[in-house]
Amino acid sequence: MSASFHDVVRRVGEVPGVAAVLACEQVDSTNDALRRRADAGAIPAGTVLLADTQTAGRGRLGRHWHSPRGLGLYLSWLVRPRGDVAWFPRWTLLGAVAAGAACRDVAGAVVRLKWPNDVVARGRKLGGVLADLRTSAGGPELILGIGLNVEHREDDLPPELRSRATSLSILSGTIMDRADLAASVVQGLVTLGDRLERGDWDGLRERWTALAPGATSGRVRVLDRQGDRGAWTGTAAGLDERGALRVRRDRDGREVAVLDGESVVPLVER
Ligand code: BTN
Repeated sequence: MSASFHDVVRRVGEVPGVAAVLACEQVDSTNDALRRRADAGAIPAGTVLLADTQTAGRGRLGRHWHSPRGLGLYLSWLVRPRGDVAWFPRWTLLGAVAAGAACRDVAGAVVRLKWPNDVVARGRKLGGVLADLRTSAGGPELILGIGLNVEHREDDLPPELRSRATSLSILSGTIMDRADLAASVVQGLVTLGDRLERGDWDGLRERWTALAPGATSGRVRVLDRQGDRGAWTGTAAGLDERGALRVRRDRDGREVAVLDGESVVPLVER
């Protein structure tokens, strides 16, 4: 049965380790709404903001995130990481593992992760992670946004996305319960976040790599901010300590760390 937004909020509030839940029927972007709340007053790390729809949902690299009411999961989580800011890309991977594992465990979907932030099923985009970091005198503050397509039918997707996107309901042929899924994603964030803060980067890297077979040996095309003009090809060789993707460049055999801001396109879908 389809879950109401009220059910989603209630279930997330029951997850141990969630400091507070902020529920908004409609926002521009959950990341931006949580940033404004954090700026307006002290809110604890571990706060989750949920929305039933977003009017200006944001994706990576300035893209729009289509966020129809009642169909997707749109949430943001506030973290104040203790580690080095250089390790911040690890948190995007953490969000993708939490989202991907929840889709697998709750919906039985066969998901793959694509560096750095994509959750993919049958070669189509199912969800993504958007991390916004701010450093201030009080220390780094990270807002990790997760978007998942859950109850969308084919015609709920905009025509231009239909060949590239999917949802858990489309994949399974049944209506998915957003409340179960939301609770599982947030439980994953809390558990993985605790482990990462205690120094278990290897455990997270293993989990991410197990869901991203293309990241250890796949052929890729890397586009930098100049798009096609700066494109080059190589072979992926796993994650470095920061969470950057190591790629052995065809041109000169050198291993290069690809960081956020660049985009990596698999040459062969796995
Ligand atoms: C991407 O794949 O490019 C990232 C998509 C992230 C979308 C989520 S929805 C909740 C949160 N709020 C936003 O504005 N974006 C993220």
